[in-house]
Amino acid sequence: MADRPSVCVVGLGYIGLPTAAMLASSGHSVVGVDINADVVDTINAGRVHIVEPDLEDLVGEMVRSGSLTASTEPVPADVFLICVPTPFTGGAGTPTPDISHVLAAARSIAPALVDGNLVIIESTCPVGTTELIRDELATAGVPAARVHLAYCPERVLPGRILHELVYNDRIIGGTDEASSEAAESFYRSFVKGSVLATTSRTAEMVKLVENSFRDVNIAFANEISLLSEHLAIDPWEVIRLANRHPRVDILQPGPGVGGHCIAVDPWFIVAKDPDTARLVRTAREVNDAKTGWVIAQVQAAAAEIGTGLLRPVRVACLGLAYKPDVDDLRESPALRVALALAAGGIDVLACEPHLAEHQLLKLYPVADAVSEADLVVALVRHTAFAGLSFGDKPVLDYCGLTKATRTASGSPA
Ligand SMILES: NC(=O)c1ccc[n+]([C@@H]2O[C@H](COP(=O)([O-])OP(=O)(O)OC[C@H]3O[C@@H](n4cnc5c(N)ncnc54)[C@H](O)[C@@H]3O)[C@@H](O)[C@H]2O)c1
Repeated sequence: MADRPSVCVVGLGYIGLPTAAMLASSGHSVVGVDINADVVDTINAGRVHIVEPDLEDLVGEMVRSGSLTASTEPVPADVFLICVPTPFTGGAGTPTPDISHVLAAARSIAPALVDGNLVIIESTCPVGTTELIRDELATAGVPAARVHLAYCPERVLPGRILHELVYNDRIIGGTDEASSEAAESFYRSFVKGSVLATTSRTAEMVKLVENSFRDVNIAFANEISLLSEHLAIDPWEVIRLANRHPRVDILQPGPGVGGHCIAVDPWFIVAKDPDTARLVRTAREVNDAKTGWVIAQVQAAAAEIGTGLLRPVRVACLGLAYKPDVDDLRESPALRVALALAAGGIDVLACEPHLAEHQLLKLYPVADAVSEADLVVALVRHTAFAGLSFGDKPVLDYCGLTKATRTASGSPA
């Protein structure tokens, strides 16, 4: 393979677009592919459709230099990186992973593949998916012997993606030794962290385990917050002091757990082996139930404040995103809280400084919302809310906004 192989990145969202721009900036010729024509047009105009620090500048620079272009169709390249979504299907019972986008992406690149190409799956996948992709490619006319195939999970933190793409350690799960070697050599060309090889199945499990570990830890923090409430103790202080033990590192409680990773990936483990994955399932249930508890607590407080009022109670909801300092609403517990309050007849004054508008909720500048509200509910610890003064307004704080200290491990990825 060339020293700086050409790359086709399939899926230009939170993972694929920063990856494509970073690869272009490290000397690779990159074509990004997305089925969404608006996304492709936006990128070809040198702009971006997602919020991530420094991304717009880098994409603009790479597009102008000609090293990054976007297309709706895969094109021939040395390396193909698949970064498409892997959601879950909800409904009754255990949520199940939907790998249809990954399989569709594999089929879509098959006509562009030539002998010796390297195909890498970065999407988070249930264990065994890379082998299914190998079969899908074979059915599409590309037998395993013709290409290298590896699963290399992405573990970046939104808000720090461009830095972490380069500095994080990477797990390389080749479907055979030659595939691992090809993928290792590709990642070593731009990664400054360690590049660690294993099998595709192990690499798939590693990614799911990482996010399940965080979900279990946050579930523990959320359970502590409920127990502390019953015992009239401040859970933030309990966790802060417990974390002074040299071998204890409890994450922070919140209104639940959201985002495209931690709230989703543990279900990929549960769906494979529901009888065994008892702790992982319980953590999901604890974190989801926390959101319901928050809704009930705010509704009760609002009902008390509203007694005697001749208008609906006004509740300022600070934050809608799933975590601080991002615009991402996927699986967001804060959004779930605000929508449930509005559906229950409360006049919700929603504040989300990272969004210009929302389809279902009218957004307010935070100062206006706080001054007009009967009750303030802090849901997301955005930096933009730091140091706000609430006067004598009642405040229900579910994210530690009003607490003096902020811990490094505090926010879910
Ligand atoms: N967002 C994160 O923080 C994060 C972190 C680690 C891993 N991941 C994983 O990375 C994967 C991608 O996540 P994301 O957040 O970038 O998703 P995203 O929804 O932001 O972007 C995915 C993009 O893929 C496009 N797409 C869908 N099907 C396609 C197809 N067949 N061909 C071409 N494009 C297609 C969509 O239009 C979309 O623009 C997921 O598996 C996710 O779990 C995400």
